[in-house]
Amino acid sequence: MTRNVVYINDVGPRDGLQNQTNTLSVKQRISLINALVQANVAGIEVGSFVSPIAVPAMAHTDAVISGIHLPIGSSVQLSALIPNMRGYESGCLTGIGLLSLVMAASNTMNEKNIRMDNQATLDMFRHVMSRALADKQSVQIYLATAWECPFEGHIQVDEVVRLAEQLFALGASRLVIADTIGAASPDQVEMLLSRLLNIAPADKFSCHFHDTRAMGLANVYAALKQGIRRFDASIAGMGGCPFAPGASGNVATEDVVMLCEQMGFSTGVDMPALLDVANLAIQLTQGTTGGNAKPWLEKQLKG
Ligand code: COA
Ligand code: ZN
Repeated sequence: MTRNVVYINDVGPRDGLQNQTNTLSVKQRISLINALVQANVAGIEVGSFVSPIAVPAMAHTDAVISGIHLPIGSSVQLSALIPNMRGYESGCLTGIGLLSLVMAASNTMNEKNIRMDNQATLDMFRHVMSRALADKQSVQIYLATAWECPFEGHIQVDEVVRLAEQLFALGASRLVIADTIGAASPDQVEMLLSRLLNIAPADKFSCHFHDTRAMGLANVYAALKQGIRRFDASIAGMGGCPFAPGASGNVATEDVVMLCEQMGFSTGVDMPALLDVANLAIQLTQGTTGGNAKPWLEKQLKG
């Protein structure tokens, strides 16, 4: 019997590094990404094409992309985050296969993050998506603060569903539903996903959870139970949004892989190699401590 596959997208090189106190060099960022490729992670968000004044750690993502080494036959899906048309154009020049637009479900968060309200963002996305259609460039869309906004509080499920419908209508290849500040609980995850799954099949969604209040894995579990098979996670649990106060790291990749594999799903990830990447991330950032499973996994797998 074919085992169920779960697709893990490591966002450490973007969501993780954008929020560290020390900015990594291009060479260090490349070494982290190459190590993730070696660990056979299915997807990697390698950086973003945003204003280097807004997010200095993500400057020179084009140079990072040109330094990535993909073994022959590698099927890893590299992606980069973009906030606008300028980001789209910069991303396209690198030839990266997937670009990710980002908008928040709440106006205030959106204004803090990309300096536009939601209506202006949707208008701008319309232009980007029609360019992408003409260019045959795949573009997915992050829907951030989908459960709770650090400024506006609880987000209504109806509002997220309404935005999701609009984003699919614009041509998004997939929506990444993000709990940017790690405020959702598993029952809220279930409630929102069950509504979203009425408008598109599970493969059209990915989930992105932060572990701010230790509910990250529980939320992954709730989403798995709803049929979601794509998750963002961040090596060593790095992460957080500089514009969303209170957000801590993403749920750690090693924790999510462990959960999925123990539940009988296949991620394709080489766990011993992944643990080496977690140690590399800790060493490079000097500020990351890692997820919860690493010490136990290291003892089991490495003796
Ligand atoms: N990449 C690089 N530079 C960009 C850019 C992009 N995608 N988009 C705009 N800029 C530059 C402009 O050219 C301009 O530069 P200049 O001052 O040298 O002329 C400057 O940024 C300001 O441009 P403007 O259009 O007025 O943008 P803004 O000040 O309203 O900021 C964003 C809008 C989206 C560029 C900025 O808020 C941003 O980059 N946010 C990043 C959000 C993020 O990464 N969040 C974390 C992940 S969710
Ligand atoms: Zn995030």
